[in-house]
Formats: sequence, C-alpha cells, structure tokens
Amino acid sequence: MKVLVVGGGGREHAIVRKVSESKRVDKIYAAPGNAGIAELAECVDISVMDAEKLVAFAKEKGVDFTIIGPDDPLVAGVADAFTEAGMKVFGPSKKAAILEGSKAFSKDLMKKYNIPSAAYETFDNADAAIEYLETAKMPIVLKADGLALGKGVLICNNLDEAKAGVKTLMLDKQFGSAGDRIVIEEFMTGREVSVLCFCDGTHIKPMTSAQDHKRAKDGDQGLNTGGMGTFSPSPFYTDDVDKFCKEHIYQATMDAMKAEGRDFTGVMFCGLMLTEDGPKVLEYNARFGDPETQVVLPRMKNDIIDVMEACVDGRLSDIELEFEDNAAVCVVLASDGYPESYEKGKVIEGLERFDGVDGYYCFHAGTKLSDGRIVTNGGRVLGITATGENLKKARANAYAATEWISFENKYMRHDIGKAIDDIE
Ligand code: AMP
Ligand code: GLY
Repeated sequence: MKVLVVGGGGREHAIVRKVSESKRVDKIYAAPGNAGIAELAECVDISVMDAEKLVAFAKEKGVDFTIIGPDDPLVAGVADAFTEAGMKVFGPSKKAAILEGSKAFSKDLMKKYNIPSAAYETFDNADAAIEYLETAKMPIVLKADGLALGKGVLICNNLDEAKAGVKTLMLDKQFGSAGDRIVIEEFMTGREVSVLCFCDGTHIKPMTSAQDHKRAKDGDQGLNTGGMGTFSPSPFYTDDVDKFCKEHIYQATMDAMKAEGRDFTGVMFCGLMLTEDGPKVLEYNARFGDPETQVVLPRMKNDIIDVMEACVDGRLSDIELEFEDNAAVCVVLASDGYPESYEKGKVIEGLERFDGVDGYYCFHAGTKLSDGRIVTNGGRVLGITATGENLKKARANAYAATEWISFENKYMRHDIGKAIDDIE
C-alpha cells in the first residue's frame, strides 16, 4: 500500500513513523515533509494548500491512502479534493473542519446541543465588543474567530488589557481576517487536558489523554506558542472524567455535527478544562495536536492504517483502540527567541544518538538538509520524546535525551510535566 502524508512538522513526523510500522504499507510519500521525515518517506516539494497538485501527485504515484496533518488545508477543503477525485483521504471535509475553522461556529454548536463550555458572546463590531467588556467580569478571554496559528487567544486581566485586545484583533488585524469576528468568553480555571479522538462520521473513539504546555517560558510565562512540550497520559484525566466526556462531550459533538449535516471523519481534538463544575470544552481542533501526537502515537498499539481506514469506511465500531500501559514525555527543542524572532540555519549535532534506541524518538519539526547537513529551519526544531514505565521516568528519560542534541541557539522549557509532581 502507498500512503501520502500531507504536512511537514513534528506531528507529521510522528504520523509517518507510525505509518512506517504498518505491515500493510510499503511506500510513504510526504508533502513537503522535513529532514527527519525524509529518512522514512520520499519527500515531495508540494505546498499543503495546493489541492490540485497534491491530488495529481497522488494519482500519478498510485497512492492508496492520504493523511492530512495540518489545520489550514483541512479548513480550506483539501480533503474534499481527494474525495471528489475518488481517493481515500483521512481528515475532515471543509464542512466538518469548520469546527476548528470558526470559534463562533463551535461555540454556537455547543450552546445549541448543550455541550459544556464557557459562557460567551460573539462580536463583529469593535465598539459593541468594548461596550460589552465595560460591564463584564475580569479576567476575560478574547478569541479571534478564525485560524491564527494557535495564537489568536488573549487572556485579559482587566478592562484596559481587554480593550487593547479588541484593538489588536479587530482593528490592527494582527491575525488578518481571522479577527473580523471575535468570541468573548468567560475565563475558566482548572487543569487542561487534550484528548484526540478518532471519528468515522458516526462513532468516536478517544485516544489516551495528553497535556500540552503552550507558553514559551518555564512556569507558564511568556507568549503562547504552538506547544513547548507534552506528556501522556494525564493523571488528572480519571475514569470518571472519561465517562463524563464520552457521553456529554465526544459523542454529543459527533451527534451534533451529524445533525447539522457536517459528519466528522478524521481526528477530533478536544481541548478540555477540568473545572470545579466538571469538564468543559476550551476548543476543538479538526486534526491531531502538535506536539500531543508525539506522545500519543508512540504509545498506541494498533496499526494506524487499520484505524484510519476504518474511520474513512465508517466502521470504527469494529476497532478496539489499545495503548501501552506506560507514559511518554515530549520536550520541544526550539530556536532561542521563538515565537518572536529567531535565527535559522544552525547545524544540529547528535541526531544519530537516537538511531536504534528503543523508547526514544527525535521528531523533526523545523529542520532541513543543507549541504549534506541537517540544520534548524523553524522556531520549533525538534520534539524529543521518551517513554518510561511512569510519567516521572518518562520525563527523566526525555530530559536526558535533550542533552544528546546540540545546536547554537537551542532553547527548551525545563518544567515540562511538572504538574505530575502535584499528585504524588
Ligand atoms: P485555545 O486555542 O482556544 O485552546 O486557547 C489557547 C489557550 O488559552 C488554552 O489552552 C487555555 O490555556 C487558554 N484559554 C482558552 N480559553 C480559555 C478560557 N475560557 N478560560 C481560561 N483559559 C482559556
Ligand atoms: N497542541 C495544540 C495544537 O495542536 O493546537
């Protein structure tokens, strides 16, 4: 079987690695891929947004199954282009990916179908938003309606910050048209958990839980990033929480999307806040999380192609998802200065240390081959993942492995998984 993976980050490297373990797969292509993915797949320089070229490439090579990693192509309808060409594709249609593509849509859906989430109002006019804020309870959360690289959420502690936030999103248009409309949401407190779920349009099966660390600096300080590290499972995601979420969040969302004529196939990522009043949805994504995937897939026992194909064919109910009874931690090695300004093109040393070492993974996020050497090519450079029999051991292993790698402006957080210590 020939598989095409669309994307070129750490998430896609983790997907490609898992696909490469499938006995059913004998050839993997990646568009555009990266230097790490190139060790397992043939990389082709086609943009993730170029539906026409991607479909033509897949046809020419006789690709049997395509997996779309990132949000932008899904929200833009790249999966639909494959379906229309009669090709099997894993990832939601444009109609379903709106669950991530518009926060106003997802909030309205949750309200209509009684799915627990924060109270909110939607605004497409800055004056009206500010008038509302003048009597609102602080802190408060402002969210750009559209896609903003995970950075369109502003937590405002007081009215001045909130007014400045409205200006940033709606008037200065820091995130372009994504901020034409904003959602203003009640501030919630609690533990955050990410649960990625396989979906076949009707059935939904959650994978093991994970937790991301979105801020750039230790102690959850600094700017929001794409994610600086993850651990799995989350010790806060108990059986009771799981039971509640399966009924009131996961299946409820699948049913709601179906009722709206937007059957969801692919991975639904539920970002949850475990509040005093029970679990509530922070956000949905229409894809695998990055870097959640880097800790979830290494723990999955199933053949990923079997599961993904069952999703596309509408027979996910036949599949029993199985995860190792262990833990995994991923520490992102970034370029110093990320997510603002940083230098690229630094030579990376030590990658070979991971070769053939069980339980240790070096996922490439922003790397490229230059004059025969692998160099840094992004803010997030590598995701160092290690497993262990429990979270503490996995964390110690992952941090030990971060020392195997060196490059000039290497930066990482030192407290990934620190929350684990709170429960023991
Ligand atoms: P989102 O992209 O919607 O997940 O938001 C990014 C981050 O902002 C989340 O991971 C939370 O840490 C935080 N956040 C989002 N919405 C809320 C909320 N209503 N209350 C508190 N924190 C929030
Ligand atoms: N790690 C959060 C995301 O993928 O959006």
